[in-house]
Amino acid sequence: MDFENILIDKEGYIAIITIDRPKKLNALNRITISELHKAFAQLENDREIRVIILTGSGEKAFVAGADISEFAGFSPAQGEQLASEGQELLFNFVENLSTPVIAAINGFALGGGLELALSCHFRIASDNAKLGLPEVSLGVIPGYGGTQRLPQLAGRGKAMEMIVTGAMIDAKEAERYHLVNRVVPVEELLDLSIKIAGRIANNSPVAISYAIKAVNAGFKNNALGFATEIESFGACFGTEDFREGTTAFLEKRKAKFTGTR
Ligand code: COA
Repeated sequence: MDFENILIDKEGYIAIITIDRPKKLNALNRITISELHKAFAQLENDREIRVIILTGSGEKAFVAGADISEFAGFSPAQGEQLASEGQELLFNFVENLSTPVIAAINGFALGGGLELALSCHFRIASDNAKLGLPEVSLGVIPGYGGTQRLPQLAGRGKAMEMIVTGAMIDAKEAERYHLVNRVVPVEELLDLSIKIAGRIANNSPVAISYAIKAVNAGFKNNALGFATEIESFGACFGTEDFREGTTAFLEKRKAKFTGTR
């Protein structure tokens, strides 16, 4: 299958998916989300593939978030639909795959980009990586599971700090807070990811699929959290602050929030 915004390489039992919109720092637009869904579904059903590595094109970004230019004019209902469809097609979909997915974070992992990495089964980062959930600086909240998955990994206090400040952390701090398992120089990132993937590929795919199911089952009692996130994300789209935040980003200026709902 030919894709516009992603590349797939296969080496033995390992598939590498590269999100390939480097000029837009690999931001997730609608097409990219749909292509990623198709690629993950295809690889999940490919008996030759036992591990998937997900990374971004270029040295600057893994993914710099959802594509702001695509949703800036959305209504609350469209915002809610964006979050729920995205969660179903990509974020929950990846988390629940029986093929393990390693995020190889090679630069900025912001907003939807960090949320995508958090949906993967674990994460390795390059030493130039920067991670954050900057949504509140745009007048919106994380809508792809970030309010649920970040506290699971980093703890509630650190997650809350990251979400309400919108600030980025570097790779070392991300390692300290368990967002990433290892940090390596950027030129070693793929090699290490492939090495770890190789170890996984020697094990029983059936046992691995049951292990993922069991680990995930322990975190399934937050359905209300995900539903509240989707509803609150949609609500932001009806606010003056959201219009100001997204317009300011697109006009490359700092937002001036008034707190108007
Ligand atoms: N959505 C849409 N376009 C994006 C994007 C996003 N999330 N992130 C980056 N881009 C685009 C920029 O608009 C720019 O496009 P242009 O060259 O056509 O103007 C291009 O990618 C390069 O980004 P730029 O901002 O010029 O790079 P930088 O090195 O100065 O800054 C970032 C890098 C990551 C700090 C900055 O791009 C940024 O803040 N991005 C948005 C992050 C965000 O808020 N994500 C959450 C979205 S919900």
